[in-house]
Amino acid sequence: MLISEALELATDKFSAAGVLSPSVDAELLGCFILEATRSELTLLAISNELFPENKLADFLEAVQRREKREPLQHITGLAPFRHLELKVGPGVFIPRPETEQLVDLAIQKIEAIQNPVIVDLCSGSGAIAIALNTEVAGSIVYSVELSQDAFSFLTQNYQRYGLDPKAIRNENLTTALEELESGVDLVVSNPPYIPDAAVPIDLEVKLHDPAIALYGGQDGLGVIRLISARAWFLLRPGGHLVLEHAHTQAPAIGELLLTQGWQDVVSASDLTGKDRMISAVRP
Ligand SMILES: C[S@@+](CC[C@H](N)C(=O)[O-])C[C@H]1O[C@@H](n2cnc3c(N)ncnc32)[C@H](O)[C@@H]1O
Repeated sequence: MLISEALELATDKFSAAGVLSPSVDAELLGCFILEATRSELTLLAISNELFPENKLADFLEAVQRREKREPLQHITGLAPFRHLELKVGPGVFIPRPETEQLVDLAIQKIEAIQNPVIVDLCSGSGAIAIALNTEVAGSIVYSVELSQDAFSFLTQNYQRYGLDPKAIRNENLTTALEELESGVDLVVSNPPYIPDAAVPIDLEVKLHDPAIALYGGQDGLGVIRLISARAWFLLRPGGHLVLEHAHTQAPAIGELLLTQGWQDVVSASDLTGKDRMISAVRP
């Protein structure tokens, strides 16, 4: 079978299975199995190269898994995030492109601070924490993650980027990092925020992202309330809180933060113009 034919076959199967980006996923799986970049794969495909015999079975098996709506990142074991490539798999939330903008907002808040102390609550794979750690010179970044499965990926990703394993905690955010009381410059989080009854439609999310990473109680704001209290404890006066949330939640979270005494509560929009982030300052 030609490489171009294998890619076409995969694209057709993915389209029929309802995968959102069938041809891109076919190409990315091709790249993964053939250990090629996308431009190398394109060149091989338009040059009418044969799919190597010894790799075709692996490709077809990967296609079958993706056809069943297993996330691409679980098949490759890796997820891109900003300049990072993070290890992911069953039990950990796959970092999303929109969270890359949360990191931009977090960086803006601490631009003027020398050697900022940062806490990422609900770290998952460590996407936010590791991005900040590697992009903000002199920063000291702590990560808190409750799930043991997710914590195992967090540990692997900290190792992968040569970061200090003493800065990660497998703990509930409600009690974590007691020793940092009032000493933190920035608390950032992409918490679980989906209301329990609003089960996502995408099968990749519904079947493969862990429930603890998705759901935030009846109104979706349960974990955000806990974060507000813990961030208040951790931050120094003038320290910043930066959160991601669903596009419908900005008014409710704004009110929640103002009621709890936060100042400078400001919503921020994502690239599509939807309010998906909020920031506040500890008085
Ligand atoms: C939406 S995921 C975000 C993961 C990561 N920050 C990212 O953006 O890719 C939320 C994470 O919060 C963790 N989590 C949920 N409740 C928690 C709690 N009470 N304390 C610490 N972590 C918690 C989940 O296990 C999950 O890994």
